[in-house]
Amino acid sequence: MNNEFLPFTRPSIDEETIAGVAEVLRSGWITSGPQVREFEARLSAFFGGRPVRTLSSATGGLEIGLALAGVGPGDEVITTPLSWVATANVIVRAGARPVFVDVDRQTRNIDLTLLEAAITPLTRALLPVDLAGLPVDRSQLNAIAGRHRLRVVEDAAQSMGASWQGQRIGASGDLVSISFHANKNLTTAEGGCLVLNDAQEARRCELWRLQGVERFANGELDATLPGGKHNMTDIAARIGLGQLARLEEFTARRRTLARRYFQCFDRSLGCELPVEDFTNSNWHMFQIVLPAHIERGAFIAQMHAEGIGVGVHYPAIHLLTLYRRMGFKPGDFPIAEHIGRGIATLPLFPAMRDADVDRVCEQSARTLKALTARARAAGAGVTAGAEGTASAAIGSGR
Ligand SMILES: Cc1ncc(COP(=O)(O)O)c(C=O)c1O
Repeated sequence: MNNEFLPFTRPSIDEETIAGVAEVLRSGWITSGPQVREFEARLSAFFGGRPVRTLSSATGGLEIGLALAGVGPGDEVITTPLSWVATANVIVRAGARPVFVDVDRQTRNIDLTLLEAAITPLTRALLPVDLAGLPVDRSQLNAIAGRHRLRVVEDAAQSMGASWQGQRIGASGDLVSISFHANKNLTTAEGGCLVLNDAQEARRCELWRLQGVERFANGELDATLPGGKHNMTDIAARIGLGQLARLEEFTARRRTLARRYFQCFDRSLGCELPVEDFTNSNWHMFQIVLPAHIERGAFIAQMHAEGIGVGVHYPAIHLLTLYRRMGFKPGDFPIAEHIGRGIATLPLFPAMRDADVDRVCEQSARTLKALTARARAAGAGVTAGAEGTASAAIGSGR
């Protein structure tokens, strides 16, 4: 058995890209410049010709997207409680109120059958998330937004390379924010981009991106809005160019590895597996939800001890201290809470070998069986044992 530590993710940066970065470093121009312009042009082509502006993060993309959508104090923005906390923090930072709608048990994304009932006269925008790169149903989502004349700021942080009904995420829709953070399917170390609707909106994005400053040919400048500092460096853009050229290959490899997980993972262990989607999802992550009697910390520690990294993406946002202080409490969004308590991200990245998937599946089975036996011995209620098939009960109090 190969005992080399297997992290849950690792970027694939090739030598050509590393050499390209060295060239940028030697060029004398390292912040936003020709590489950024080239990367933006390639991204725009990738997204069917829509305007794209690169940024230093997708958090910045969401902040700018909300500003462009006119979201401000007193407004409500509807989003999911099952995401990275940035999704909700940007709403709070805009002075607006996050309105959470529970997620669907299977897709783990915002439940579109519940969304419309959460719309009020104060709702200004919808902010959906494609968790693990599995897209929210864009046909339904855009129909709801259209009926209520709402802007959509897509948190597509995890969606690079994903698609909906044959069209790339980002190639249609309203404002789309994508992350190039180190863990993402396309990375620039840190970074992101915002896909926009037209040249005028792109120009406003540029102002929000860099201090609201306009420069004139005579060397003078003016500031017309309180923009932030969100520009991407040429170093990052050069990494992105190397990554974009290989994105299709990366996505194909991720899909192959995900298929193998479905073939190898013992379905009798009581875990909830993700939706088996090999056309829309970019397989940013392969996540299981552990049965209620398994303590996630113990599972992670045991897997780690056996040389396998396991991540947590993510606990429910509304139960984090900041959001509890706003009045959210346990029981508000039971499905997100259930998933947030038990979700575990197994290793998945393009450089993984097929045998690595087999090793993760075998070790998961061993670990889950051992922890189940331990729970039984301790007299804990084993709702879905290593031998059982029932999935974890909602609200089991784990
Ligand atoms: C769903 C989601 N939203 C927003 C972000 C923020 O992206 P960034 O780290 O590029 O700011 C992330 C990053 O992990 C994310 O996963």
